[in-house]
Amino acid sequence: MQNRKGFTLWFTGLSGAGKTTLAGVLEREMRARGLAVEVLDGDEIRTNLSKGLGFSKEDRDTNIRRIGYVCRLLSRNHVAAISAAISPYREARDEVRRLIEADGAVFVEVYVKCPIEVLAERDVKGLYKKALAGELTGFTGVSDPYEEPLAAEVVIESNREPVEDSVSKILRELERRRLVRAGEADGHSTAVRRALDAEDLGLLTDIPALA
Ligand SMILES: Nc1ncnc2c1ncn2[C@@H]1O[C@H](COP(=O)(O)OP(=O)(O)O)[C@@H](O)[C@H]1O
Ligand SMILES: [Mg+2]
Repeated sequence: MQNRKGFTLWFTGLSGAGKTTLAGVLEREMRARGLAVEVLDGDEIRTNLSKGLGFSKEDRDTNIRRIGYVCRLLSRNHVAAISAAISPYREARDEVRRLIEADGAVFVEVYVKCPIEVLAERDVKGLYKKALAGELTGFTGVSDPYEEPLAAEVVIESNREPVEDSVSKILRELERRRLVRAGEADGHSTAVRRALDAEDLGLLTDIPALA
């Protein structure tokens, strides 16, 4: 495993699209396959590493640069880094990609796509209702920009596919690039099956905050 390249799995997408959910399941799956893994979740990062930053373009870019910097340190030391933050600006994401690749590690961008109508209906954190009613300003996808990736390595349509299919799609891409070793015959380890069961029971729901 030591000889495998380090990598960063970078999720991007609107709030409620599925970044945290997928990061959590993949974290368990990668551990089950023998990798050291660290998840940097947008909500959590904003309570520590990026505490005090707001939601202007400048602050959002600073937040992403910080997450990217930590991902870079981790992936060049063969820890699989998973970022799960909205990361709305293309240029900031591409900058992180360049830095990680410059270190000889791999950057895999996963665009978790979901139409705003479905997100508003899901309203995982109760924020879309407020944003659409104009009670929240600067809300990504409603009153703040989101720049879609132009060439993400994986695109997830979370309104059309169950979590399990999205997880498999991402794992297949990581296996294809020889970043993780192949899984068991059914494609999922026990860890993932357990995680998916927990997901069904609603145990993987998120901390309420703006990402
Ligand atoms: N294919 C999918 N991938 C990820 N999440 C999905 C998918 N299909 C449905 N969902 C649901 O969408 C919600 C995503 O919430 P969350 O992961 O907190 O989003 P984010 O971290 O992007 O804000 C969860 O309730 C999850 O169960
Ligand atoms: Mg999240």
